[in-house]
Amino acid sequence: MPKVTIDGHTIEVPEGTTILQAARMIGGDVTPPAMCYYSKLKTSGGYCRTCIVKVTKGSEKDPRPMPKPVASCRTTVMDGMEVQNNSAPDLLEARKGVVEFLLINHPLDCPICDQAGECHLQDLSYENGLSTSRYEFKRREFEKIDIGDKIKLHMTRCILCYRCVKVADQVCDTRVHGVINRGDVAEISTYIEKAVDHDFSGNMIDVCPVGALTDRTFRFKSRVWFTRPMDAHRDCKTCCGRVVLYMSGNEVLRVSARKDQWGEVEDASEGRAGWICNECRFEKKELKDWTVEGPRNIDRHSVISQNQYLEKKNLRIDVSNQKQIEEKAHN
Ligand code: SF4
Ligand code: FES
Repeated sequence: MPKVTIDGHTIEVPEGTTILQAARMIGGDVTPPAMCYYSKLKTSGGYCRTCIVKVTKGSEKDPRPMPKPVASCRTTVMDGMEVQNNSAPDLLEARKGVVEFLLINHPLDCPICDQAGECHLQDLSYENGLSTSRYEFKRREFEKIDIGDKIKLHMTRCILCYRCVKVADQVCDTRVHGVINRGDVAEISTYIEKAVDHDFSGNMIDVCPVGALTDRTFRFKSRVWFTRPMDAHRDCKTCCGRVVLYMSGNEVLRVSARKDQWGEVEDASEGRAGWICNECRFEKKELKDWTVEGPRNIDRHSVISQNQYLEKKNLRIDVSNQKQIEEKAHN
């Protein structure tokens, strides 16, 4: 089995493992960010370049370094390879450039975006971005489109990661949308706004790393960090029925698939991805529809887990109660 060293950590991995997968096996800060790669979707990766790393030694047989940063999600580990991610300042500088490119057209509408609090681009730009933009030209603008009665597309926020196209290709039987045009006029389109109404089409919302595809049944209902995520399941004939309920009191505001530490849908059983069907996601919004297992542990550096921390410490405030907000602010 080939051995690879990433930021000083050495690991043996199965033949054919990519640098990104090897880094995820090591875990922690060693792992590069990934905006388009999604391990449950075949042929994903290779579009966004956020996962770039510096290969300082190609392999035991050919120790020459690679001449430029490579996409770790698309580069296979060679025996004896040495890689730098966080330990290479010039690589981090290059990643900042990638983030700046991704942000050229992305609007700064986080205060009204439903993805705020769980947006990977928000995290990425916080960790690797510049606080200003050098871009002076007119940005891309699109009208918002309803694709089907449950999904809203804000193309202006899209970073063209192709994940939703791959969900449509690989998880749904039929695909009625894709990326049309190329370069700075490329866009996700259903042509004549055809409804995406397959049983599993809602999973496009879960894989979208930004707020380009949002759940119309949840839009503007609550900031996600004010909700209480709960693991729950039901006996569903179409999908695994294992979900996260985002609750406010006893009200179910949103239902999503369960995601792992990389923001990807968890395995349900026998290595099969836990995609959920549209009935579970959009139609089952009553608590009696579900068997609640308990609070969801949000394992990302996320404002949602911050809310759970406040709750554990009994510091959570009722946002509708101005007096309580003022009291907490004074303490
Ligand atoms: S809509 Fe979302 S998932 Fe689809 S390509 Fe754009 S950013 Fe990616
Ligand atoms: S995650 Fe590797 S290129 Fe996007």
